[in-house]
Amino acid sequence: MTSRDIRPRRLRSSPAMRRLVAQTRLNPADLVLPMFVREGITEPVPIGSMPGVVHHSVDSLKRAVAEAAEAGIGGVMLFGVPEHKDAIGSGATDPEGILNVGTRAAVAEAGDALVVQTDLCLDEFTDHGHCGVLDPLGRVDNDATLERYRDMALVQAASGSQVLGLSGMMDGQTAAVRDALEGAGFVDTAILAYAAKYASAFYGPFREAVNSTLVGDRRTYQLDPANRREGLLEVELDIVEGADIVMVKPAGSYLDVLADVAATSSVPVWAYQVSGEYAMIEAAAENGWIDRERAIDESILAIKRAGADVVLTYWAVELAGRLK
Ligand code: PBG
Repeated sequence: MTSRDIRPRRLRSSPAMRRLVAQTRLNPADLVLPMFVREGITEPVPIGSMPGVVHHSVDSLKRAVAEAAEAGIGGVMLFGVPEHKDAIGSGATDPEGILNVGTRAAVAEAGDALVVQTDLCLDEFTDHGHCGVLDPLGRVDNDATLERYRDMALVQAASGSQVLGLSGMMDGQTAAVRDALEGAGFVDTAILAYAAKYASAFYGPFREAVNSTLVGDRRTYQLDPANRREGLLEVELDIVEGADIVMVKPAGSYLDVLADVAATSSVPVWAYQVSGEYAMIEAAAENGWIDRERAIDESILAIKRAGADVVLTYWAVELAGRLK
């Protein structure tokens, strides 16, 4: 046999053959749609920085959840956009706060057709825009924030959220929330720990999506983009603290971290294709510079290929439609 007899092109010769030998497959059930529910609106409001994504009213959220269930995706992840913000993010722990109202509505709509999940973080609710409460010097106070997260967890669990997405990056947050849930008897509420969440410029468009007032950055609590090994440390800690699922975020620029985590994690590994990843493709496509659908599908396929079990993506419902 000569090296010319090994012809990898054989398995690329037709669409049916390529489909048969594909080593990575996308399924609607592997996709989770992040959604925004905003207080004080009665119609959906477009988010300028994320063309095609909207702020939902409670009613339009219900319709969109029904549509997501119809599309067969695995779940939705809810973010709340409150009308009023304050220093401690009171809206986050108010059972009548928009995220908790939206969660109850979504759960009622979804039944068992998909899993309703909630973002557990304070930045949407604080007037300073940080993910935690501040100490007298204006620094994010880790342990005081954990107390707020414990309370948020109980309200979200009581509202019916099945998976709490801990995205604040405080040390010990998974253990604190697990302890609070167990103490209150919420033994079936799962924790999705945003374990390897990097301080990324790719969250830019999301700031408009949650009307963020943040001045400065989150570099004292989110990971430094330079650090690969540190992602593994965060994953290890979260698993020990009781995480049911771990997350890598953003996805596209962190596929090395994702592959490392996928190779070592004993719990499911999810990845979040964030707002900037979304907006870049939409903007380039709008300019006619790339083939929109091919770029979307390839970007999500790459995240799965790197090892994600589930991908959070703003294109979840659109992509599910193409997979049918
Ligand atoms: C924090 C949070 C952020 C995102 C999800 N949860 C913003 C941040 O950490 O700055 C970003 C998601 C996206 O960009 O799509 N609650």
